[in-house]
Amino acid sequence: MKALVLAGGKGTRLRPLTHTSAKQLVPVANKPVLFYGLEAIREAGITSVGVIVGDTAHEIREAVGDGSAFGLDITYIEQEAPLGLAHCVLIAREFLADDPFVMYLGDNFLIDGITGLVDAFDAADCDARILLTRVAEPQFYGVAELGPDGEIVALEEKPVNPRSDLAIVGVYTFSPAIHEAVRAIGPSARGELEITDAIKWLIDAGHRVQSHLVTGYWKDTGRLEDMLECNRIVLEAIEHDCRGTVDGLSEITGRVVIGPGAVVENSVIRGPAVIGADTKIDRSYIGPYTSIGDGCTVEEAEVEYSIVLGESAIRGVGGLSRSLIGRNVEVTKAAGVPNACQLMVGDHSKVQVRA
Ligand code: TTP
Repeated sequence: MKALVLAGGKGTRLRPLTHTSAKQLVPVANKPVLFYGLEAIREAGITSVGVIVGDTAHEIREAVGDGSAFGLDITYIEQEAPLGLAHCVLIAREFLADDPFVMYLGDNFLIDGITGLVDAFDAADCDARILLTRVAEPQFYGVAELGPDGEIVALEEKPVNPRSDLAIVGVYTFSPAIHEAVRAIGPSARGELEITDAIKWLIDAGHRVQSHLVTGYWKDTGRLEDMLECNRIVLEAIEHDCRGTVDGLSEITGRVVIGPGAVVENSVIRGPAVIGADTKIDRSYIGPYTSIGDGCTVEEAEVEYSIVLGESAIRGVGGLSRSLIGRNVEVTKAAGVPNACQLMVGDHSKVQVRA
């Protein structure tokens, strides 16, 4: 069994972060979301992994390397443009050869991993087994209709009148039969080769397509709120671990991870929270569900329910909440006029200030 991890795409919903970096590398509890997927693949006993990369290939390669840090053997496959999930299967033909494989969308987050799905696919006699989850608003998803024995009998993309509340999650297992399907379909109205069309083709051609329900938490991390929620879920499970220095004037409550070389002075940290290596927290308040990356400075500031990427500085700013702050960012107090905001913000940014 092999794995095909999709780490190309555009990431329009996480701009401006994704102008300069891959959305699959946005951290959850200070670890890129893609790493959770790679670990889950290894845990399922798979070592041979193809990674689809696009415009951000350089960054993904730098972060993941040859895969040895994960116990994986990684082959990179360049996609010239994000032409669809089925297009990824098409261009991975040589790497996949005639092996069955699991396809994993690199921005998806699954707390319980994929071992259950992979084992069930191995044991069953079918050409696809697709991960599904119950959702409150199926009209926004690819929706599956199941037959009496759990087989998928129909699939609809964003249906106006959904026939079930079972949405397709971004993890699929396929036999080599999928290669004929991705060759047979044409581009959709949005110009992409859709994996749902390829699965529909399998069903129509009489192949067995089974369903597999997600057990634990699942999230497609495409938007800010999703990233913050994943961060909260992962932080819920961390254990207290202090490898940095905390002075006697500081108060640490709850489960807090403090990285090596980090310094906390005259500050309050209420967990669960993660403070990265070599980060300085000085005269500040860090509230629950916050991840501060490596090499950051937080001075006379209040931050809660937020993700701050590495090498950023927050100085003299109170009440930062539900925020995603990129790498090498500076957030400081405006000098001069009281209550003034002085901004230099990149294209496609979103800033919400006190009214
Ligand atoms: P999507 O979330 O469907 O697309 P996107 O990354 O372009 O994001 P947005 O909607 O915010 O613009 O992609 C799911 C995953 O698959 C994601 O990790 C990117 C990857 N992908 C590819 O590698 N190649 C592709 O052709 C497509 C469509 C996605």
